Amino acid sequence: MLLAAAAAAAATVSAPAWLYPMPAGAPHFAVADAAPATRPGSGVTLTGAATRNRAIAVDWFPDPANPPPPIVLRASQPGGYACGYCHLPRGEGRPENATLAGLPADYIVDQTEAFRSGTRTSASPGWVPTEAMLNAVAHAKPAEIREAARWFSRQPFVSRVTVIEAATVPVTAPLGFTLAVRPGPSEPIAGRIIEVPDDPDGFELRDPRARFTAWVPPGSIARGRAIAAEFGCIECHAEQLNGWGPGRSPSYILRQLIAFKTRARNDAGAQPMQAVADQLEMDQMVAVAAWLADGARAKPG
Ligand code: HEC
Ligand code: HEC
Repeated sequence: MLLAAAAAAAATVSAPAWLYPMPAGAPHFAVADAAPATRPGSGVTLTGAATRNRAIAVDWFPDPANPPPPIVLRASQPGGYACGYCHLPRGEGRPENATLAGLPADYIVDQTEAFRSGTRTSASPGWVPTEAMLNAVAHAKPAEIREAARWFSRQPFVSRVTVIEAATVPVTAPLGFTLAVRPGPSEPIAGRIIEVPDDPDGFELRDPRARFTAWVPPGSIARGRAIAAEFGCIECHAEQLNGWGPGRSPSYILRQLIAFKTRARNDAGAQPMQAVADQLEMDQMVAVAAWLADGARAKPG
């Protein structure tokens, strides 16, 4: 595509509010602060409040023979965070942050440096999850980040999202910084990706086995597959990112494509992706994110 056309496309994309949920009003928790919380199959019981302590990550399924490094489970400085509070102890991640399991360790270190130096931020300025990530990195030492990166890179990646094409979707509202279904009539999907936890209470308790459903506009998966073939997404990622991509959260993927395009992601390694994103309109980014999240499968039709 011509450079002028790419620049024009870049100007048309901005961060849509539905992709960056923000809770309104005081939070309402499924398990009250003093009440006991546990998860199916877990021998761990905690208070509701303990599941919401950013300094100490909940590990519902501890493996004493293979423990995460300290910074993953516990902040090392006052005001700091445990990486596993948000990304979960084995890097499963949540739609509002990122799956880290299986990413190359060097890439993890580079990205934390990009957040630290300000070359990576959110395309929606001030979005709380990204601000909190900046804060977590500011309160972690480089050696701790390297340990965390090695740990997360060794964890097996498991896809936890089911992608469904639909013209209409349930009504949703923010649950924390992710959408969740709420009672009411359905509404048109209107070009969005609507990703929700299947069990909102388990999600809220940071169950690493939580699963997600993502509704995407009709035709997205086949369209995304054609776009990916045109740009060689999978081939390039196999070379440069250990095959990164298939089966991850489509909301996360879409936020990143927008971040490359708007230059919210502008670190040294971002250039190849900026060149790709500059050529994609919003509906094309939605389609390719849907196809990647679906596992980058070839589908008949
Ligand atoms: C308070 C929640 C929170 C904590 C704690 C946190 N992160 Fe993050 N992290 C995020 C969010 C949100 C993003 C995605 C931000 C974005 O893309 O705008 C992210 C993104 C990342 C990414 C980029 C992943 C990718 O695929 O590009 C890496 C790497 C990362 N975090 C590593 C860490 C490490 C290491 C720690 C511990 C020192 C940590 N994070 C602690 C919320 C958190
Ligand atoms: C020229 C090689 C190349 C091509 C082609 C390419 N990518 Fe990438 N992609 C990269 C690199 C390199 C990164 C890491 C960027 C960085 O370090 O900031 C990346 C990162 C990403 C990320 C962010 C990953 C994360 O964990 O945050 C997404 C999403 C992505 N690519 C999607 C795509 C899609 C979709 C396509 C096809 C439309 C595509 N890429 C095509 C090289 C490529």
